[in-house]
Amino acid sequence: MKEDGNEPTVLDVRVDPEDRSYPVVVAPGLLEQLGTKLRQWHGSGSRVALISDENVMALYGSVARGALEREKWGVLPLVVAPGEASKSPKVLLDLVDDMVAGGLTRQDTVVTLGGGVVGDLGGLAAALFMRGIPFVQCPTSLLAQVDASVGGKVAINLPSGKNLFGAFHFPAAVLVDPQVLSTLPDRELGCGLAEMLKHGALFSPGHFEDVVGSAEAVYERQPVELARLVAASVALKADCVSRDPREKAMMEGGRILLNLGHTVGHAIEAASGYELLHGEAVGLGLLAAAHISVARGFATRGLEGVLERALERLRLPTDLERWLAGDRGEAVERALVSDKKRGAGTITYIGLEALGRPRVTKLRGDEILRLLRCAGAAC
Ligand SMILES: NC(=O)c1ccc[n+]([C@@H]2O[C@H](COP(=O)([O-])OP(=O)(O)OC[C@H]3O[C@@H](n4cnc5c(N)ncnc54)[C@H](O)[C@@H]3O)[C@@H](O)[C@H]2O)c1
Repeated sequence: MKEDGNEPTVLDVRVDPEDRSYPVVVAPGLLEQLGTKLRQWHGSGSRVALISDENVMALYGSVARGALEREKWGVLPLVVAPGEASKSPKVLLDLVDDMVAGGLTRQDTVVTLGGGVVGDLGGLAAALFMRGIPFVQCPTSLLAQVDASVGGKVAINLPSGKNLFGAFHFPAAVLVDPQVLSTLPDRELGCGLAEMLKHGALFSPGHFEDVVGSAEAVYERQPVELARLVAASVALKADCVSRDPREKAMMEGGRILLNLGHTVGHAIEAASGYELLHGEAVGLGLLAAAHISVARGFATRGLEGVLERALERLRLPTDLERWLAGDRGEAVERALVSDKKRGAGTITYIGLEALGRPRVTKLRGDEILRLLRCAGAAC
């Protein structure tokens, strides 16, 4: 891996060992090269559906479009409203209809330019249009750059739950330009930092320390630091999804581990009425995982303090106890009990023996809350 942040870092993500892989390329200013990169990856096509949201299209649509048109790609721009509400069946069908009306064919390509919402939605449109056409991810939020754009999971939400209608549709390539993070609001940046911290907590104590130590440089949007950290974090996720591309295994080392912090995180996110952003709730979920791991006796006391201090440095919430008592606690418990990953009343829960040593365990929703409340000395 190159260390100076200006040379592109190219990572290979395997899909199936015997099948194919796709590149994830990280470098500042890469969006300007979208047209030439796409030519390398997809020499034969001639048209692109450029899917984005209103915010990102206004900021980077002309850079992306210019880069494509310089290389003679015909561009069909498709814009959705920003926010989670766009991951809906109606918006998905409208997008696919617009692709049909715009005359796109099986030889053409979808490029998603945006955060995780655009990547998930546009990726699913690419998976379904004419039974599937190639797509390239250009993630523009930190969370999408280090997490959502890599791994091939694409989905929309149903009234019954998040990401319930989706597919595995692996991108032809992922093009990560950390320079676009200069316009990302601080709170959204914090959400990406929470996922980076998760990658470190799961797979690399060194990355965990690096993310914590570099948090201020990230908030200052120092380009070289951003490129280095994003490449390091995405490499950890890429390694994990290459081991288990379709989340088939309940194995140690498989994709299931990426749920660290997400069981309690999703429950708190839902109970907050989405007052907390996803990454902020995941940060609290990571803290919860440390408490539960200590309470269950597979981590030594002190891990909770390490997580709490890390979250503080990343400017993320640490007030876990606020979500365990009273009406909020009941709402979190209801959300945990209806967690979609439960089986026969239990949840596959990811804990930590230590930084870099994840542990897969089974817990009931009410047990998770009991362990957390005891850890907070409220029992
Ligand atoms: N597929 C996966 O593996 C996976 C993994 C994690 C999360 N996700 C999904 O990702 C979604 C969350 O993604 P997100 O946090 O990126 O949210 P998002 O896509 O809603 O983006 C957050 C906000 O930042 C804005 N934005 C994005 N890039 C910007 C930039 N460079 N400058 C200024 N504003 C910018 C967006 O317009 C939006 O308002 C969720 O729907 C979640 O389910 C998917």
